[in-house]
Amino acid sequence: MIQPQLILLREGTDTSQGKPQLISNINACINIVDMIKTTLGPCGMDKLIHNGRDVNISNDGATIMNLLEIEHPAAKSLVDIARAQDDEVGDGTTSVVVLAGELLKESKQSIEDGIAPQVIIKAFRSALSVAMQTLDNLCVPFPKEKDASHEDLIRCAETALNSKLINTERRFFAEMAMRAVTTLDDDMNLDMIGIKKVTGGSMKDSVLVDGVAFKKTFSYAGFEQQRKKFDNPKVLLLNIELELKAEKDNAEVRLKDPKQYQSIVDAEWKIIFDKLDKCVNSGANVVLSRLPIGDLATQYFADRDIFCAGRVAVDDMNRVALATGGVVQSSLNNVPAEVLGSCQLFEERQVGAERYNFFTGCQNSKTATIILRGGAQQFIEEADRSLHDAICIVKRAIRTGSVVGGGGAIEMELSKVLREYSRTIRGKEQLVISGYARALEIIPRQLAENAGHDSTDNPQQASPERTT
Ligand SMILES: Nc1ncnc2c1ncn2[C@@H]1O[C@H](COP(=O)(O)OP(=O)(O)OP(=O)(O)O)[C@@H](O)[C@H]1O
Ligand SMILES: [Mg+2]
Repeated sequence: MIQPQLILLREGTDTSQGKPQLISNINACINIVDMIKTTLGPCGMDKLIHNGRDVNISNDGATIMNLLEIEHPAAKSLVDIARAQDDEVGDGTTSVVVLAGELLKESKQSIEDGIAPQVIIKAFRSALSVAMQTLDNLCVPFPKEKDASHEDLIRCAETALNSKLINTERRFFAEMAMRAVTTLDDDMNLDMIGIKKVTGGSMKDSVLVDGVAFKKTFSYAGFEQQRKKFDNPKVLLLNIELELKAEKDNAEVRLKDPKQYQSIVDAEWKIIFDKLDKCVNSGANVVLSRLPIGDLATQYFADRDIFCAGRVAVDDMNRVALATGGVVQSSLNNVPAEVLGSCQLFEERQVGAERYNFFTGCQNSKTATIILRGGAQQFIEEADRSLHDAICIVKRAIRTGSVVGGGGAIEMELSKVLREYSRTIRGKEQLVISGYARALEIIPRQLAENAGHDSTDNPQQASPERTT
């Protein structure tokens, strides 16, 4: 006898399934897309998002999706695609969400018409492979010579910045993005481009430092007596604490005779002075440490014409190491000359209201720092996100070595090719593929709508009779 199937679910579980659930999931996604699509393109509007405490103004799709704090499980997948696009490419996060929404809208129609989701997925996959082949044929390669491609790279970055708050200065920032990425080595690790934000000043006061710059770290008495500028300095990089207190705190000593206490104190002083002597004897002019450099060490270095900075952030330290060719030391027992870094100029300078340490003119500089300036914190945050998009696009363009037309042109062409392809197919898949082709048109349509144009107007047909 056939046993009846029993499925036990926890109380309160939502058991809705089948077609109505599919449609409801798609509707949730479409609601999110409707919200974000108005930010697409150069005439798209920025969003202001207030979460009770902070206010964020952004045009970046991934940022807006993150800030929306979406709860719906299906709509959350849109956040994931925006995030994946941000990690993988850096730009185009709004486009992927808008496109995904439109594809869902088209599949909703097919589902309502009774086409099985499996058929839709199969047809979408074959449409995708045709679209990818067409893209390969349509892309325009960059010139092969390195310098000749610079102008193209700047134009790519400018296009990415078109839709951003800083678009009035897009040439300035696009050049900066191009120069920053081209200083990197072949693996183009974008962590090697530091972006520092200093409020105050105008946008055009932003600078690209060919080397490393970081904010002055916490300093102790004696720091003011240190020299703040060195030509061709030797740089010693440490992961060691240069503080007297450290020796005291880390040891437990039991004494029988109080007189022995002095010998312990002497030993502690000897240890720290030994370390400091080794730093001085290494021939370094600048000593940086990831860990604190205390007041004793600061004064000791000041007396010997050495600059020091403790508590340097890990990423800044790594970039100094890379730029100057130094090696971070965890012990001072043996410091050969090769582990010292070098650059043409070290300087501590005022930037806005902050003091900054600059290491410039590094021979094997594979790192750059951008110091962003601007009136308001909000503005600098958005400028940072926009510049990140432009930098990612330059990197991507160098990697792929080719571009396709923007402004919805490539989407229209793909749509046309897919429509023709769909006509060669029989059955339900033809409907689905032509739906895919229609979905691609959302990009030019939305760009036109955001710019205040009628997306169904055909400018070539717009004759004078029609307008009068
Ligand atoms: N000058 C322009 N004229 C017409 N369209 C443009 C122009 N500049 C850029 N675009 C188009 O704008 C779209 C990009 O818009 P936008 O930068 O707002 O969104 P995104 O790149 O998809 O997402 P995000 O930048 O938020 O990660 C692209 O389709 C691009 O072709
Ligand atoms: Mg963009």
